[in-house]
Amino acid sequence: MTETAAAADWQAWQRSWDRQQEWYLPDREERFRAMLDAVEALVGPEPRILDLACGTGSISDRALRRFPKATSTGVDLDPALLTIARGHFTAESLFRAESRVAFVTADLRDPEWTRRLPHRHYDAVLTATALHWLRSEELSVLYGQVAGVLRDGGVFLNADHMPDPATPRINAADHAFQKERQARDKAAGTQDWVDWWETAARDAALAGPVAERFRIFGNPADGDHADGEVQSAAWHARALRDAGFAEARAVWCSVSDAMVLGLK
Ligand SMILES: C[S@@+](CC[C@H](N)C(=O)[O-])C[C@H]1O[C@@H](n2cnc3c(N)ncnc32)[C@H](O)[C@@H]1O
Repeated sequence: MTETAAAADWQAWQRSWDRQQEWYLPDREERFRAMLDAVEALVGPEPRILDLACGTGSISDRALRRFPKATSTGVDLDPALLTIARGHFTAESLFRAESRVAFVTADLRDPEWTRRLPHRHYDAVLTATALHWLRSEELSVLYGQVAGVLRDGGVFLNADHMPDPATPRINAADHAFQKERQARDKAAGTQDWVDWWETAARDAALAGPVAERFRIFGNPADGDHADGEVQSAAWHARALRDAGFAEARAVWCSVSDAMVLGLK
């Protein structure tokens, strides 16, 4: 992506975000598919979705394509990723025609963040590769707030890095295997998190929101979410039950990641 030619090509930015995220998670699309299968199974094919820590809106994108009558609210704090999200969904006539998506700027650590939502209740709250940015006690509070915005019978799905501490040799072997794959992909030109943000900072249309993003979260080159905590899938299921969910369990996993479902 050059500095100016693709400055407002939001679909290209969306695609480059997806490639960068897939460098960490080669089974990302498979995980989205499993997430939306669970949504359809539990609340049907016309969900009102809350896409939590939505970034550029990758979950909303997959959901609105798969479910023509779905709507989505994306929530995030990052002005640069929300700029890409708004640009991408505005440019996609499929979404624009029916005003099916809205984006809200909010900090999920703010006790009042749910007041910014356009709806009181949702059928599905979905999130991916995001809640490990929060500390465990913040996440427990957030789970209670999520229960509050879900209708009875609604579904919550959190797909994230959730290693199992009981299997250190399996984890180490997978880690080494993934590092080798990442080195090969990087040599072939794939951008990691730091590279991607450096490129975004040089783009004329994104430089302002990226500078603001660095003020809020710090510069990725200096480490930008070291405060967060990673927990196992079993921890998440327990925290969801403690927050008032009727049932909670892992419904998908790889060696390092899992997706936990909470049913209200
Ligand atoms: C790795 S991205 C994942 C984005 C998207 N879910 C995806 O899968 O592509 C993590 C997201 O969490 C958001 N985030 C982190 N902490 C947040 C907070 N306190 N409030 C709102 N969003 C937050 C970041 O801004 C970022 O968009």
